[in-house]
Amino acid sequence: MTAVEDLMHREVHAGYDFVTETSLHLIDAGGKRFRPLFTLLAAHVGPRAASPDVITAAAAVEMVHLATLYHDDVMDSATMRRGAQSANQRWDNSVAILTGDFLFAHASRLLADLGPDAVRIIAETFAELVTGQMRETRGPKPDDDPIAHYLAVIAEKTGSLIATSGRFGGMFSGATAEQIDSLQRFGAIIGTAFQISDDIIDIASPSDSSGKTPGTDLREGVHTLPILYGLRGTDAGAERLRELLVQPLTDDAEVEEALTILRTGTGIEQARETLADEATAARAELGKLPACPAVDAMSALTTYMVDRTG
Ligand code: IPE
Ligand code: IPE
Ligand code: MG
Ligand code: MG
Repeated sequence: MTAVEDLMHREVHAGYDFVTETSLHLIDAGGKRFRPLFTLLAAHVGPRAASPDVITAAAAVEMVHLATLYHDDVMDSATMRRGAQSANQRWDNSVAILTGDFLFAHASRLLADLGPDAVRIIAETFAELVTGQMRETRGPKPDDDPIAHYLAVIAEKTGSLIATSGRFGGMFSGATAEQIDSLQRFGAIIGTAFQISDDIIDIASPSDSSGKTPGTDLREGVHTLPILYGLRGTDAGAERLRELLVQPLTDDAEVEEALTILRTGTGIEQARETLADEATAARAELGKLPACPAVDAMSALTTYMVDRTG
């Protein structure tokens, strides 16, 4: 991970100092580094875990992720990220968008050293991720099942890049084709679980302990899984929630009211059940990989995903 950090820092130091500054803003603000960590762990399944290509791939997936965070915060009008001001808040939307583009360009540059397969895979992954963001922005069509729509969105916007993080770890450490497939599938499932846990935290976290502002999804009119389940309730709280959420919430008191209803209702519990099902599916995929400490660590990551929701 130290080598990954060094590489990311070296990469954004090339060029105009202001874009270096805006890139380092979120790189240095922290973040869990979940995707590069997963790439490095996945690489232990193959015979060449210490290959420099694994480090390059890990740095590139984190930089792609970071690029999407700059853009996502513009789309979601978010003011906080990684416990710091979001770039759109600290500077403006143009700076945030261009910093995201710069990071994506540098991620592509790094991947070019890994050959055309890596470049093609990241291009396809990015297209899928953007499709998910677009699908979320458009919302479900009137006769779409909103939960199926939500699950499609999160598989695309979050599952795709985490799947590729695992795939790269396997590819660049010389794992077998079957192992690479399992790592990719595990990543897709754990990525979906990760987004469900993030969406639960957006509702359930009492403060900004996540480094983001709770209720952002409500303000943006994004109906995540705990909200969708909450809206299906039959009690008075659910009735009021349906009334409140006909449009994005702008009023602080209404956001608080909706959060209180959601926190005391059954929607969060139901979302946790879906999360637990995903964790079970993820573990089944891990069972296909050879037993080793790295696979144990991936299993621990799966547990963390469920536990972090509280
Ligand atoms: C945030 O990702 C966006 C989601 C896909 C939920 P992370 O929760 O991995 O964000 P950082 O990298 O730790 O800040
Ligand atoms: C982020 O989705 C997904 C991507 C950046 C592709 P969200 O909007 O749900 O993530 P947070 O909660 O802002 O991190
Ligand atoms: Mg967001
Ligand atoms: Mg978003």
